[in-house]
Amino acid sequence: MKHFLVAIDGPAGAGKSTVARRVADHLEITYVDTGAMYRSIAWKLLREKVNAADEAAVTQLAESMTFALDPAGICVDGTRLTDEIRTPQVTALASTVAKMAGVRRALVRKQQEIAERQSVVMDGRDIGTHVLPHADVKIFLTASIEERARRRYKELLDKGISADLESLKEDICRRDENDRTRQYAPLRQAEDAILIDTTNQSISEAVEVILQLCRNKL
Ligand code: C5P
Repeated sequence: MKHFLVAIDGPAGAGKSTVARRVADHLEITYVDTGAMYRSIAWKLLREKVNAADEAAVTQLAESMTFALDPAGICVDGTRLTDEIRTPQVTALASTVAKMAGVRRALVRKQQEIAERQSVVMDGRDIGTHVLPHADVKIFLTASIEERARRRYKELLDKGISADLESLKEDICRRDENDRTRQYAPLRQAEDAILIDTTNQSISEAVEVILQLCRNKL
């Protein structure tokens, strides 16, 4: 297969990671979860008690970190991270550090290096616009805020974690607002991206649509 790049962007909770992982599995190429990279920085800041308001220190930390892809999560500086980067505290801080231009520059460079070495399905907020502007297939995946909060609620309940639908909705709205209004690389649909709204569509249907678009380009 030729070197092939798929970019999937969209707001929080739209189902990007599930869709991207399944597309990557079908195409037998690597899945890259860029959100996990921003989350890992937040996790490390909390662990090393770095002042998150000190942009220079946060940027330096981001530049020094090494990321390895791992099917079960992400390997950061040799440590495999899974559930510890999904806590509400890490989630909120990830959204804050993602506004920092230096942090984004450092991560974009690392993401581009990964994509140079192999074919990937990469998901995030700025993949089609900044990280892989020449991707073969670009998707902007979205769903209504109610549907995204409801899915997140169900996901937590299925894991045995109690949750409140209204506060989940508020949290998603806050993160979307942060992502859409930041100065550097805000969340937006690339001009050549295809919009897929999964409010009334199943995840499997979205995967099928994307696979068909990929097959047309392969
Ligand atoms: O996708 P996920 O929710 O795991 O991402 C965590 C946070 O990282 C998001 O709220 C967003 O602010 C940030 N992010 C980003 N750009 C990306 C991926 C994630 O700004 N490419």
